[in-house]
Amino acid sequence: MNAPERDSVERSIKHCYSTWGTSYYADYYGSDAPYPPVHLDLVKRLVAERGVKRLLDAGCGPASMLRHFIEPGRDVYGFDLTPEMVAEARRVLAEQGVPHDHVWDGSVAVGADFASPAGKADYDCVLCSGVMPHIPDAIEDNVIANIRHALRPGGHAIVEARNELFSMFTLNRYSHEFYLKQLLPVDALREQAGDERDGLNAALAQVEGMFRTDLPPIRRGKETEPGYDEVLSRTHNPLLLQQRFLAGGFRDVQLHYYHFHCLPPMVSSHAPRLFQEVSLQMENNSQDWRGLFMASAFFVVAQRA
Ligand SMILES: C[S@@+](CC[C@H](N)C(=O)[O-])C[C@H]1O[C@@H](n2cnc3c(N)ncnc32)[C@H](O)[C@@H]1O
Repeated sequence: MNAPERDSVERSIKHCYSTWGTSYYADYYGSDAPYPPVHLDLVKRLVAERGVKRLLDAGCGPASMLRHFIEPGRDVYGFDLTPEMVAEARRVLAEQGVPHDHVWDGSVAVGADFASPAGKADYDCVLCSGVMPHIPDAIEDNVIANIRHALRPGGHAIVEARNELFSMFTLNRYSHEFYLKQLLPVDALREQAGDERDGLNAALAQVEGMFRTDLPPIRRGKETEPGYDEVLSRTHNPLLLQQRFLAGGFRDVQLHYYHFHCLPPMVSSHAPRLFQEVSLQMENNSQDWRGLFMASAFFVVAQRA
């Protein structure tokens, strides 16, 4: 991917997040958020278990996570692509005594952007949450390499992604797309259909009819900016991302799932209290194999070899 192509993707991402600087925290972490921020508890546990003293949040948003990680003896740093997010992160962290230059503008696609303005990387932990969906596949290995280089040897990456395999559980448009793009060998079927072409079309139409392809609704922007579903917002197959980290010089690459759904989302409104209660209970085991299908997001937790 060349620089102008990357610029164009990053411009639309910045535009998408530009109106979210001050409301993002309330929308996803506040007491009125539609679902408790269970990923915050998970990351708190993962960071505590690793005794992290120098923490970088790459793509920190409005310090939505970082504000919860300030404690004596720990230095926190963050950077983000969207200037409005950087401004809000600086404001929030300054109130907690974090120096202004611990937050800066930058992209995870640029290795040099991982160092603080004082010029140092060498972090115990690089957290990167909510960013991988916006990274084009063509530069994903570079981003993984940038994270690795920013860590001290033995340091940990905690990297979040949206779970592509959750589509096997949702029975909606995403499931249908997954069948067509990842599972069914549609090109080979069409090429070899011969006199069964009508039969193949009927089979594919029947498969489509098994899913609610009108759901979920597309998320649009608040004002004129593009919405989350209108910019690049990829999902990842956890097993393939795990392999990429292993190939990229990490060891002990673990998968931790979150946002478990005890029922497919489209039927959850029949019993919303029960749905939330039992889903939250499932969050207690982030390494439950059912997360591969029933959790909508996951963290790759990996140690720099
Ligand atoms: C979904 S928000 C997550 C914010 C925060 N990390 C959290 O988990 O609460 C995604 C953030 O990633 C930032 N972002 C997207 N692409 C980026 C890139 N290439 N480099 C750095 N930040 C990026 C966006 O500006 C936005 O603030």
